[in-house]
Amino acid sequence: MIPFAMTARTDNLQTKMEHKMPTETDAISPGKIAIVTGGSRGIGRNTVESLARRGVNTIFTYHTHGPDPEAVVAAVKDAGTEAVALQFDSGNIASFDAFVESVKEALSKLGATRFDFLINNAGNSHHNMPFEKATEEELDSIYKVHFKGVFFLTQKLLPLINDGGRIVNVSTARTRTTSPGGSVYASMKGAVEVLSKHLAKELGPRRIAVNVVAPGATETDFSGGIVRDNPVVNKRVPDGTALGRAGVPDDIGRMIASLLSEDNRWINAERIEVTGGYV
Ligand SMILES: NC(=O)c1ccc[n+]([C@@H]2O[C@H](COP(=O)([O-])OP(=O)(O)OC[C@H]3O[C@@H](n4cnc5c(N)ncnc54)[C@H](OP(=O)(O)O)[C@@H]3O)[C@@H](O)[C@H]2O)c1
Repeated sequence: MIPFAMTARTDNLQTKMEHKMPTETDAISPGKIAIVTGGSRGIGRNTVESLARRGVNTIFTYHTHGPDPEAVVAAVKDAGTEAVALQFDSGNIASFDAFVESVKEALSKLGATRFDFLINNAGNSHHNMPFEKATEEELDSIYKVHFKGVFFLTQKLLPLINDGGRIVNVSTARTRTTSPGGSVYASMKGAVEVLSKHLAKELGPRRIAVNVVAPGATETDFSGGIVRDNPVVNKRVPDGTALGRAGVPDDIGRMIASLLSEDNRWINAERIEVTGGYV
């Protein structure tokens, strides 16, 4: 039997330790608001939920999959924060002014007029396009969703981002590595990476940090769920990865959320690869 005095001291120590133990919510100051594009599924959804666990309210977008956003809003509520889902097509630049108006309405629902973090994550599935066969139409379509959309959405939302805010642009490990059929998609992500460095410089006076997160192959619905469901890829990716498996959304979303913490406030104009070691 443990003597009473010792139990009390142990309890006291435990209470103190619990008080001092860092929690996820410590890392981001309260009351921050994020916008996550493509937050209804995969990496974006995990980012929204990881931010919610850190006390961040989110406006996130979906494109075509109606039912998914409701589940995300419910998960965010369970974590004790708020989320608003908005429909958005990254390839339809003409719709961006109306989208910005709906962002303003969503912000007012969250009791704010501005937000803090922009995560440009949305991306449509694409099938590998051999360079020799890629058409002008295919190139234009990937360009609009993966680059032009990121460029103009960021430009139009910029007046609503608080000084001292952050921007994260989601790219891919395929800008560093090569694999057949990646020229169109990887080139657009490469353009996003170059844009990000220039933005970091231009937005420095407003203390807005801009970074790129470049995931490796991650098991989502992307490109027909190829990383998760294709047996050849199922073997190739773990074989080439130091940690011996493909990524899952929870490997990437929580990293993006942690990048937005105060601990990482001095990281700027960087491209950070999150692959489990695809070397
Ligand atoms: N999975 C990977 O292996 C991998 C690796 C490296 C980088 N990435 C990048 O990570 C990002 C997220 O990919 P993911 O794997 O999470 O994909 P995902 O599971 O397919 O989710 C894509 C998200 O983007 C939205 N979206 C699709 N087309 C859109 C459009 N035209 N306009 C606006 N939103 C659109 C989707 O909305 P709906 O569901 O409503 O259609 C969904 O919320 C993408 O930028 C992708 O290029 C993925």
